[in-house]
Amino acid sequence: MTDETAPAPAVHPLADRAPTQASQAEISDEIRAIEAEARARVADGGQPELHPRRNYPPYRSSILRHPTHALVRVDPEEVERVSPAFGHTDVNPLESDLTIQHNAEPLGERITVSGRVLDGEGRPVRHQLVEIWQANAGGRYVHKRDQHPAPLDPNFTGVGRVITGDNGEYSFTTIKPGPYPWRNHLNAWRPAHIHFSLFGTAFTQRLVTQMYFPGDPLFALDPIYQSITDPAARARLVGSYEHELSVPEWSLGYRWDIVLTGPKSTWMESEEAHD
Ligand SMILES: [Fe+2]
Repeated sequence: MTDETAPAPAVHPLADRAPTQASQAEISDEIRAIEAEARARVADGGQPELHPRRNYPPYRSSILRHPTHALVRVDPEEVERVSPAFGHTDVNPLESDLTIQHNAEPLGERITVSGRVLDGEGRPVRHQLVEIWQANAGGRYVHKRDQHPAPLDPNFTGVGRVITGDNGEYSFTTIKPGPYPWRNHLNAWRPAHIHFSLFGTAFTQRLVTQMYFPGDPLFALDPIYQSITDPAARARLVGSYEHELSVPEWSLGYRWDIVLTGPKSTWMESEEAHD
């Protein structure tokens, strides 16, 4: 007889292992094989791949959901009639601080993430909406699909937004997100990251990407990060620790510039990717 009032035990990560799940070693072997093949192609004079492969088998769900047909072209003006808008109020400067949205401070390492949004010629992209969303310090999202056994933080929602300034600059104050497990393969963990969304001059020009933190030991193991086979392009997704950006007795500072076009552009993900 079971006691239905007893709390459910925490689920060990191995408890619901699917028998078909690959091991990390198998995924890592696949990652290395693809990178070696890409490196050989560049050595033969091919162009480096600056964007993620849409069909990247180590990222298992990309196998079935990557586009196999040409994109449907739409009339941008027609789309804008029903596209999202900023909302009824202007973006408040306080919305760039994710640590002041509740009655108390969120737990975790307080950080400042600052940078500039630039075009391919290095010109600032001014007055554009930059939105972020992220997990809390324990690696948990406030989302019904994230049920892994890490604690929610009642003082952290994990969303913020800002408008770039005259020099394309932006700055967020937040909490360093934790890495989190996902179901791509057995013992799969995403490196800590912050999701970024940028709008150009129109809502139909939305771009979505992720920023990572320097020195993360999970980089080599992560099939999303590794789906960009060019090492230099991958590295552009990693912010740098910058002591000048650290605020005394308050937060650690990271710089991450985003380049929208050209050969040094920041990788932007497809609409379907969301992990
Ligand atoms: Fe994420």
